[in-house]
Amino acid sequence: MRKAHEYVRLDGQATSLVLALYGGQGADLVYLGARLPDGEDLGALCAAQQRSVHENQPDIVPMPGLLPERKAGWKGTPAVGLMERRAERIYEVQTDFELANWTSDKNYIRLTFMDAALNIHVQLAIEIRSGDVITFDGCIFNSGARDFELTRFAPLTLAIPPRFCELTHFSGRWAGEMRETRRALGVEGYASQSTAGKPGFAGGNWLLLHDPASGEAMGAHLAWSGDYETRIEADQHGSSDGRAQLQMGQNWDCGEVPLTSDPELGVNNSCKVCLALAPDRSTLAQKFHTLLRRDVLADRKAWPARKVHLNSWEALGFDLSEAKLKALADDAAALGAERFVLDDGWFGGRRNDRTSLGDWTVSSDLFPSGLTPLIDHVHALGMDFGLWVEPEMVSPDSDLYREHPDWCLHKESKDRPTMRGQLVLDLRREKVCDHLFAKLSSLLGEHAIAYLKWDHNRDVFPRSHAQTERLYALIDRLRSAHPEVEIESCASGGGRIDYGILARTHRVWPSDNNDPLERVRIIRAWSQFLPLEVLGNHVGPSPNPITGRRTCMDFRSKVALFGHMGIEADPRAMSAEERTVLAAHIALYKNWRDTQHSGDLWRLEHPDAGVGGMMVTHENKALALVTQTGFAAHFDAAPIRLAGLDAASQYCVTLPDPWPAKAANYLAGPERWREGLTLTGRALMTQGLALPLTHPETAWLIALEKVS
Ligand code: GLA
Repeated sequence: MRKAHEYVRLDGQATSLVLALYGGQGADLVYLGARLPDGEDLGALCAAQQRSVHENQPDIVPMPGLLPERKAGWKGTPAVGLMERRAERIYEVQTDFELANWTSDKNYIRLTFMDAALNIHVQLAIEIRSGDVITFDGCIFNSGARDFELTRFAPLTLAIPPRFCELTHFSGRWAGEMRETRRALGVEGYASQSTAGKPGFAGGNWLLLHDPASGEAMGAHLAWSGDYETRIEADQHGSSDGRAQLQMGQNWDCGEVPLTSDPELGVNNSCKVCLALAPDRSTLAQKFHTLLRRDVLADRKAWPARKVHLNSWEALGFDLSEAKLKALADDAAALGAERFVLDDGWFGGRRNDRTSLGDWTVSSDLFPSGLTPLIDHVHALGMDFGLWVEPEMVSPDSDLYREHPDWCLHKESKDRPTMRGQLVLDLRREKVCDHLFAKLSSLLGEHAIAYLKWDHNRDVFPRSHAQTERLYALIDRLRSAHPEVEIESCASGGGRIDYGILARTHRVWPSDNNDPLERVRIIRAWSQFLPLEVLGNHVGPSPNPITGRRTCMDFRSKVALFGHMGIEADPRAMSAEERTVLAAHIALYKNWRDTQHSGDLWRLEHPDAGVGGMMVTHENKALALVTQTGFAAHFDAAPIRLAGLDAASQYCVTLPDPWPAKAANYLAGPERWREGLTLTGRALMTQGLALPLTHPETAWLIALEKVS
């Protein structure tokens, strides 16, 4: 039996992680779960997990541990992949790391592994941070004489505690982000990667594991805005101790990341894997939200209230003029909007999506006196002003491209395939970043712009992780020059959402799809990892331009209220009644945004698959959104049970106006729902509220105020 030199435990508030450290060999996970009592005997904990070898195992069972390698009979994917070029050929290099030393604290450990023959060492750091989220990151150094190339370096390899025998993975596409699939974690494992220079819509940079017996959930995310690789390999042959391995890291091409001989210059992952465990999915969401609010979102505490947006895209598209925009701004203000965002089409010759990206000067055709008259108009209406940009891109039909055809990413003497008629600028060139900084900075310096919608609408080819690092540097530089400007990350919707981009931006655009039947699912899925204040959520037009579906304003408005609310539709196309309904929901949002954007999010479950719910509790208040998207089999839907309340406290429960027209007919004693029913948290969480939830497009808001 392998004997550890030391056991180290890291403790958060409710989580413990125990490692066995085998000096001269490796380090292995012994325990990951609810916080252990102080006196736990860690040696006994380890012994209780060990078994003897079976008939078809190596005599000494390999220990992949925190830094798995292909040695001693282990068959999985190593955490570090090394290549060496010799005489124009590329060779794979086998590593042989040994645990050299470690330093640890109550919630932190740094381990150094050394390959003495290659003179390469790896540092892995594990830390339990805000919300009990555990971060894993790594750095690799080459102090030998040979130059190598890194093909992989996963900061997280986790031997999955076997009680987590189911997983939820995410998949998606443009306008259909974050579709959940829950299944058994079988011998086939799981694999997902992105290859287009951003996480994209495939969703594999987010993952959940479940213990179906207890409901306990574990979530993992790679905080990186470039390509990822996630894999789970089951140990079906007993090549170690039966635990499946979860690996997460960046996805690189061979030759992309040199590991040159230089003892000082390591290759850092420049990203972390964030991992959290909780008794249920709601608590897990709260843990990730705490990490974001405290450690990731820059200056989160100082953020002002999240203003209601009106974005011009769905209302006007490319059909822009100063007069039309001013009229749209008038309508926006009348509905209660607080920020007017001018989307695509305002610059250079950009009258459609095939041209002019890169020419970031205000179009004099559309704005003969510049943007200032429009901005002044918006300000006079009491709103601030936001602007769309897509800085990383260039259209072949642009002044920038004609002047600098080499500034785009391309392969010499090969075609330059466009996507949406555009190419990607090569941010690895200093000059390109300086140019973009100068252009954006002067736009922000010359105009009162409170907000940038930073878009990214194509795949990056050829991709490189340096492109993402340079993007981070560009945004950081711009933010320090213009700290008051808020930035949204959009990539055709949710194509680049991760904690790396959120460390330098203020919100994300979760999807181009504003159809509320889709949107409610998309927001619920993202909110597993992201708090509502960073999730842009807009009321779109009906019929919806993507799905073609017609939906009523009440449903669209209620769905959009849960998040950072906005309008992305033309108020002129709305009836007077629709405007009234929308304006009423905007007013409700303003009343409730402090609660929503500071509180704890709870996921409400219901036996009808068409019924979903989310609820936020904060101090003495709570707000729930309950939606029916299907047509129920039963007329009398089961009551919706609330969550996160103090069992012994009394709450006054109301259904805020406006109500969904059809469903409201089936409310018994409607006046009581206006005046309020007083119930205990116990009754509300155990028995719930019987609401009419039969018809599709029915949504209710439930407001709660603690009275004693
Ligand atoms: C992308 C964005 C949209 C809109 C258009 C403008 O598709 O996701 O919200 O800004 O670009 O071209």
